[in-house]
Amino acid sequence: MYLAHLALHDFRNYKQLDLPLGPGLYLFCGENAQGKTNLLEAVAMLATSNSFHAASDREIVNWQAPDHIARLVASVERHSGEVKIEIVIVDPTPANGADFSVPESRQRKRVKINNVPKKPMDLVGQVTVVLFAPTDLRLVDGPPEERRRFLDRALCQMQPRYCAVLGKYRKVITQRSALLKRIRENQEDPRMLGYLDEKLTEWANLIIFERQRMVASLNAQVDELQATISGGREHLQIVYRPSFTVNPEWNTIEALEHYREQLHEARRKEIYQGVCLLGPHRDDLEFLVNGVNMLTYGSRGQQRTVALSAKLAELAYMHGVTGEEPILLLDDVFSELDSLRREYLLRQILQHEQVLITATDFTNFPQEILGKAHRYQVVDGAITEA
Ligand SMILES: Nc1ncnc2c1ncn2[C@@H]1O[C@H](COP(=O)(O)OP(=O)(O)OP(=O)(O)O)[C@@H](O)[C@H]1O
Ligand SMILES: [Mg+2]
Repeated sequence: MYLAHLALHDFRNYKQLDLPLGPGLYLFCGENAQGKTNLLEAVAMLATSNSFHAASDREIVNWQAPDHIARLVASVERHSGEVKIEIVIVDPTPANGADFSVPESRQRKRVKINNVPKKPMDLVGQVTVVLFAPTDLRLVDGPPEERRRFLDRALCQMQPRYCAVLGKYRKVITQRSALLKRIRENQEDPRMLGYLDEKLTEWANLIIFERQRMVASLNAQVDELQATISGGREHLQIVYRPSFTVNPEWNTIEALEHYREQLHEARRKEIYQGVCLLGPHRDDLEFLVNGVNMLTYGSRGQQRTVALSAKLAELAYMHGVTGEEPILLLDDVFSELDSLRREYLLRQILQHEQVLITATDFTNFPQEILGKAHRYQVVDGAITEA
């Protein structure tokens, strides 16, 4: 699929943007703080209506927007035809205007698909994107949240149910942690945990199942990717490391039983610590190269290569599941890569349907790439052809 047109209105530092696009390679060049990441953030929001780096939606709305509303309108070409997506975000508590507030009843995020009002969740499955940012190069040696997000971001774009369950699961964890603390302070009876334990194990079961299934498909790809970039020397395997003890022999009903038991056994410890110790919010991924754990023993270069292979496998995985190539977004990654990996990545993405790349400068890019690309300049929330 590809984005054919993008219009932004009071979205971050874009007062007004009207950008026709098409298949192929797009390069957006600009100095720091001009709006490169904001542009990719807008495109990525088409997938689930959520931003990859805003803590809350209100951050999206331009600080000076007179009506405190950000708008994003896009048309995307897919095999099945064109889809038009409109996302409107209202900032209920603008930082600069004390005299303005949005009534509680007013929806803060409105979504339309082909001009028909829909729930934000209905966006899932319409557009898929794969974002590659410098933090993704820390996939292996960064915090475990990054690795969980790597899985969740892909799964959420493809399965509305996963997305909904993950949201519910997170709420259960917040409520349950609060309850554990109250029990510790003798303000609540431990029997109160029963209901939340049921919910936790039910949602956990589904999340763990889907994540493991995704890891299995990634493993069908990563080894070859890693071997190519390492000149055949390295073999990569990704292992899902759940905090619950998981046995592949268990069916889903048995798994549920076992999780309940494990939760029961961990109860005293959980109350003592006042946190939920078991469940997908504590799970992790391990990357093994020739059987060696890259988190502990990987060189920096190896860790980056693994991250690259994992991201490219994610792309192939999403393509395989949906039958459509996701839109590929690369935010400033090339400056972080050495020439071998840069060339490898460029070769991979050249085969891709639509790729949007940002960088502060393109002087290091091979002429072959520059010749094939549409080049744009980003200056202070405005985009012009270079
Ligand atoms: N809601 C908002 N309203 C107005 N401006 C905003 C808003 N949110 C962020 N900005 C500004 O937008 C500018 C561009 O941010 P962006 O992250 O897109 O820069 P960038 O071009 O990617 O820079 P870098 O090369 O440093 O990554 C920043 O100066 C930021 O302060
Ligand atoms: Mg940026």
